[in-house]
Amino acid sequence: MERNTQTFADQFDKVAPYYDEIMSVVPYHQWVQYLRRLFKRFGWKPRRILDLATGTGTVALLLAEHGYRITGVDLSEPMLTIARRKAAEAGVGDVTFLCQDATRLDLPPSFDVVISLFDSLNYILTSKGLRDAFASVYRALTPGGGFIFDLNSEFTLEHNLFSQDNLWDADADVKHVWKARYNAHTRIATVEMLFYLPNGGVFREIHLERAHRHTDVITFLRQAGFEFLDAYDAYTFLPAGKRSERIFYVARKP
Ligand SMILES: C[S@@+](CC[C@H](N)C(=O)[O-])C[C@H]1O[C@@H](n2cnc3c(N)ncnc32)[C@H](O)[C@@H]1O
Repeated sequence: MERNTQTFADQFDKVAPYYDEIMSVVPYHQWVQYLRRLFKRFGWKPRRILDLATGTGTVALLLAEHGYRITGVDLSEPMLTIARRKAAEAGVGDVTFLCQDATRLDLPPSFDVVISLFDSLNYILTSKGLRDAFASVYRALTPGGGFIFDLNSEFTLEHNLFSQDNLWDADADVKHVWKARYNAHTRIATVEMLFYLPNGGVFREIHLERAHRHTDVITFLRQAGFEFLDAYDAYTFLPAGKRSERIFYVARKP
């Protein structure tokens, strides 16, 4: 699909076939448990869930196993190709994957909950883009619907905590070295990612993430019409603080 200037996401196209291998250390099951605890905490009993920036659809498929009807949306066709293949292999019924841009979703107002995980909305590089994404999500929700998303915090991006490697992990087939540089003026972290394949191949992707200001996020949610409910230090119910590395935001369409 056509890409606009607010987003920049061919950054996942090369890595898509290796994404699940690289993320095999990510505790997705626990994330789904955390989401379900959040649903319970706010008294939500969703049937239809939109997984925005679903990637290779791991969380979408885990939620589908719990009986939710899932739509996964992502900007990267190569990521969605993997998601669709996994859904077919798992024989999971009620899940659909669509290629759309979070900043201009074209979906009916039919979802009880929208989620967006793993700093996907940091990939939106402007305040306007974030506002557009919130407006899009608002339109896709039914009245009373919930919105849960996480962001890499300003603290994480300012301190280049995105820099990491897995060279120490003897079990990892695909090795990676990621180096982040933060521009305090643009508030954008540029992450140079190098991937080393078992067959000796090497490839590189540049990922850009914006440090959206915590106060802006809450303001933009309210401007989009949401009731802001809470912001947590990730995977806990503790309030987000200055040193939170990842923040979960919870909002509701009145
Ligand atoms: C770090 S991955 C997270 C994927 C998945 N949520 C997960 O937990 O594994 C970020 C995803 O956001 C997607 N993305 C980035 N910008 C987007 C946009 N504007 N609209 C939709 N998806 C976007 C990328 O294609 C990528 O699949």
